[in-house]
Amino acid sequence: MTEQSATLKIGDKSVDLAVKSGTIGPDVIDIGALYKNTASFTYDPGFTSTASCESKITYIDGDEGVLLHRGYPIEQLAEHGDFLEVCYLLLYGELPTAAQKKDFDYRVTHHTMVHEQMSRFFTGFRRDAHPMAVMCGCVGALSAFYHDSTDITDPHQRMVASLRMIAKMPTIAAMAYKYHIGQPFVYPKNDLDYASNFLRMCFAVPCEEYVVNPVLARAMDRIFILHADHEQNASTSTVRLAGSSGANPFACIAAGIACLWGPAHGGANEAALNMLQEIGSVDRIPEYVARAKDKNDPFRLMGFGHRVYKNYDPRAKIMQKTTHEVLGELGIKDDPLLEVAMELERIALTDEYFIEKKLYPNIDFYSGITLKALGFPTTMFTVLFALARTVGWIAQWNEMIEDPQQRIGRPRQLYIGEPKRDYVPVSKR
Ligand code: SDX
Repeated sequence: MTEQSATLKIGDKSVDLAVKSGTIGPDVIDIGALYKNTASFTYDPGFTSTASCESKITYIDGDEGVLLHRGYPIEQLAEHGDFLEVCYLLLYGELPTAAQKKDFDYRVTHHTMVHEQMSRFFTGFRRDAHPMAVMCGCVGALSAFYHDSTDITDPHQRMVASLRMIAKMPTIAAMAYKYHIGQPFVYPKNDLDYASNFLRMCFAVPCEEYVVNPVLARAMDRIFILHADHEQNASTSTVRLAGSSGANPFACIAAGIACLWGPAHGGANEAALNMLQEIGSVDRIPEYVARAKDKNDPFRLMGFGHRVYKNYDPRAKIMQKTTHEVLGELGIKDDPLLEVAMELERIALTDEYFIEKKLYPNIDFYSGITLKALGFPTTMFTVLFALARTVGWIAQWNEMIEDPQQRIGRPRQLYIGEPKRDYVPVSKR
């Protein structure tokens, strides 16, 4: 890693700071010694110009709309790979050989059941509880079950915890859905692939055999791939920060789920579909585009814009293609939501406001239409995002723990409150 230097002048002081270059992408200015040398902090709310770590897992070029996982373009992984192959790649850094893939699939498949007592956690929730609330609770509860895989200093235990997380998330997500709709839980079946198993756990009922539609299972698998990891996004940074204190890995993933739930992040897929339903028809789009541009109106086009992508989110293009595949397979013609979405995209991409602010559809814009067509209620959309993102969170958590520079994350602040003052007795207030 090549090193240059930058000089910072503050008053009569000047401080030399190392500039580090990575493999590709922007350089970083190492400010680790800044406070010691200048008694000043940097200030970057929202971390728009701040790199929190070194990483080899995912690279995003926001201007070019490029997304690489361990160097492989998302388009190629989505086209040629399957989700567990991408999981292996994210965790171990290389694409698996046939033998490695077979072993990995076997190990994940044979961790898909959850402890039978887990089912009791669900009964504490109201049936109409949001499935993301259930996921936060139940995934956090996993930390009470697996004490044999929580010594985070032991690479073997970390990998066991990682496999358990990847394997059990579909089972817990499907249980959250079944509980929500009042149907019995469906156990995983070891002769099904990851996506097929998940669809069956969600949509099978005891009264009849469930036959997996291979086209829909492939689409589900590809949707998982598109959501697997995305550099240091808010929920991944949450998992890294929680993990930096040495917290239980399952509890760290529960923290990631909580962060992902927000409508500015993973909750945008649910919010985007609700927005499309609220718009309802093409002739109402101008009204909503005007609201999205109005600084006095908090309304934003959900599924549009991104902190990093200032070009089309490459995942959104693949998602749009998958949407057409799923609707075609299901014989859904002229889906009114798709019609509104495509016209909204066309209008927004030609509108000066969106062009100037470089606002493009992101992964959440089309995903909701696809997931609704697959049979999921909108309240399950972010659960599916969390299911897929678990491998990214756990890969980044492992990388953080293995990083020799790893320390507990503890940001500072710019204090703008009251200066020191003495207590005033209530009789004198
Ligand atoms: C995900 O980080 C990741 O990688 C996330 C993710 C992942 O895989 O982990 O990609 C998944 O979270 C995708 C994003 C999903 N969220 C949404 O679709 C919600 C709608 N989008 C916005 O809330 C917003 O674009 C964010 C939150 C995504 C990004 O916010 P930023 O980077 O803080 O940008 P900003 O809010 O400062 O917006 C810049 C400008 C603002 O106008 P000005 O203050 O400069 O005048 O663009 C405007 C915003 O008002 N703007 C929008 C808009 N998004 C931004 N205006 C209308 N509609 C929008 N959607």
